[in-house]
Amino acid sequence: MTYIDSILKEKRIFYPSHEFSRKSHIKNMAEYSRLYKKSIESPEKFWAKKAEELDWFKKWDIVLRDDMGFFKWFEGGYLNVSYNCLDRIVKSGKKDKIALIWEPETGESRKFTYGQLLKEVCRFANVLKKFGVKRGHIVEIYLPMIPELMIAMLACARIGAIHSIVFAGFSSDALKDRVQDSKAELLITADGSFRNGKIFPLKENADAALKECSTVKNVIVVKRTGNKINVINGRDNWWHELANEKGIGDFCEPESMHSEDSLFILYTSGTTGKPKGILHTQAGYLLFCYLTFKWIFDIKDNDIHFCTADIGWITGHSYIVYGPLSNGATSVMYEGSPNYPSPDRFWRIIEKHKATIFYTAPTAIRALAKEGNEWPEKCNLDSLRLLGTVGEPINPEAWMWYYKMIGKERCPIVDTWWQTETGGILISPLPGATPLKPGSATRPFFGIIADVLREDGSKADVNEGGYLVIKNPWPGMLRTIWNDPQRYKSSYFERYGVYLTGDSARIDEDGYFWIMGRIDDVIKVAGHRIGSAEVESSLVSHDAVAEAAVVPYPHEVKGQAIYAFVVLNKGVKKSEQLKEELIKHVSEHMSPIAKPDKIQFADDLPKTRSGKIMRRILKAIAERSNDYGNITTLADPNVVNVLASNRV
Ligand code: PRX
Repeated sequence: MTYIDSILKEKRIFYPSHEFSRKSHIKNMAEYSRLYKKSIESPEKFWAKKAEELDWFKKWDIVLRDDMGFFKWFEGGYLNVSYNCLDRIVKSGKKDKIALIWEPETGESRKFTYGQLLKEVCRFANVLKKFGVKRGHIVEIYLPMIPELMIAMLACARIGAIHSIVFAGFSSDALKDRVQDSKAELLITADGSFRNGKIFPLKENADAALKECSTVKNVIVVKRTGNKINVINGRDNWWHELANEKGIGDFCEPESMHSEDSLFILYTSGTTGKPKGILHTQAGYLLFCYLTFKWIFDIKDNDIHFCTADIGWITGHSYIVYGPLSNGATSVMYEGSPNYPSPDRFWRIIEKHKATIFYTAPTAIRALAKEGNEWPEKCNLDSLRLLGTVGEPINPEAWMWYYKMIGKERCPIVDTWWQTETGGILISPLPGATPLKPGSATRPFFGIIADVLREDGSKADVNEGGYLVIKNPWPGMLRTIWNDPQRYKSSYFERYGVYLTGDSARIDEDGYFWIMGRIDDVIKVAGHRIGSAEVESSLVSHDAVAEAAVVPYPHEVKGQAIYAFVVLNKGVKKSEQLKEELIKHVSEHMSPIAKPDKIQFADDLPKTRSGKIMRRILKAIAERSNDYGNITTLADPNVVNVLASNRV
């Protein structure tokens, strides 16, 4: 059964236990509806009241302003994000509370109290200052999941520098594109990262990328793996030497940042080849992370929150770092993969650290479910009280396995829908209130007006699929696309005048949202957001390739996988060996997560008379469907049959 078929048939409902509801922040649907109504009717009043819970150097003058389609929140206000995540918590009496539990791929875990983390952040902020990094400067971070990553982010926030993190699973070309666009002056990386017991050559990738990035003058390198690297004199510096220098102070005064100053840029894939630098600013983003984390994860003082995402993606930014810390919570950060050294790794971490909340991607759930029940059964998961999913639609079977095998039918599951652009969760259950339907992200969070529209902009009927839009601004929303304000407007607002998410969805008779997937050229491979155009340009950069077109096809574990149609240059021989070589090429130049699972060599691609590739036809072929839609506009309709009869 396909994902769409299974969610259309899904009728089960699961209620939170009385015990859970009684202790939760939002206890029932009546409370949700009352507060939701208020938040929609007077959003500025709602958000201003919540913003009082943060520490401000100076309060704002105006809550929200629409500056020709660019939204500004809390203008005239000044605060510091690192101060709110560290000093504020220390001052509330939690100096010795654990802020971070770091679980490395191998070896002993390390814990940092709020007091220790504040000191480390201050010291590294002082190091950055020594390098001349100032407010508004951009620091590129290309680090694995090690504490230095969190420390570097918060140090940037402390001095007002803008961090731009590149997922450490990306290779040199992807890093190069992002650094070139951000024009960063300093890069922080590591000698290598561990992955399934092997070393991934981060520094080598960084060196290759930096050959074409003239803006970067200094590189700070964390010693993680101890493998030999090429140290470039005058440019490369060791983190441990800098951070342990005697002259470096233990305190760094936090910069007073305007609410709308930039906090970070995070690149994500869009419809064209060039990744989009999503810009988030200080106050609104922090407030949105703070409140969504508090209420959606129903946070309590003794919670241990384990989010398995990588900080290189937005989930890690918002729900490993900024959301948990601004709530004074304990966050678990794990360096390795779910199945190394064995498929019980996550369950062992939950057992070891007595995690109370576990937040992961449907792909991981499907992959671990496939390994068999004996793995979670061997572990004590009694500490868990809440589960979450993010990043892609979850099929009801995977949801049920998660609910029964991991949550033991005690733990609500929050299926959280959101995006890099939204900064935090927009559609999700509130665990003590919302009855759950497996596969549905349920209802919008406070202050969010979500809807589903038809092609012509009219409202879709109940259960009719259409374009998911958000009709009002919210504090955590992106402010622009770095260096490309025009693209911000055209990508998100041009079509309907309201925020276009890029997803399709339907709303059922109970007002529940069912997300059906992307409607653009973005592919969610194992929850990772991959732009087909970026994969295509990686393929075309290989000498043998003349043209490439990449589409998704359904994959049992990864949700979607990549199917590439490749036209070779004249005279190049088609062979299985060449396919392998192309897969390796994409892995090495872009990322192992972006490599095609299937490659089909083609002599021609289906194109309109004006030369535009018709992806919908390629998608049908990759999905093994014969429903190609209208093919009469093709320059050569015969191409379709040839491709279909050769599909792999
Ligand atoms: O297609 C939706 C899917 O992930 C996309 C956003 O990807 P990214 O910016 O990488 O952020 C992922 C983590 C927030 C969305 O457009 N998506 C995210 N969460 C869900 C989801 N699809 C279905 N259900 C979800 N819960």
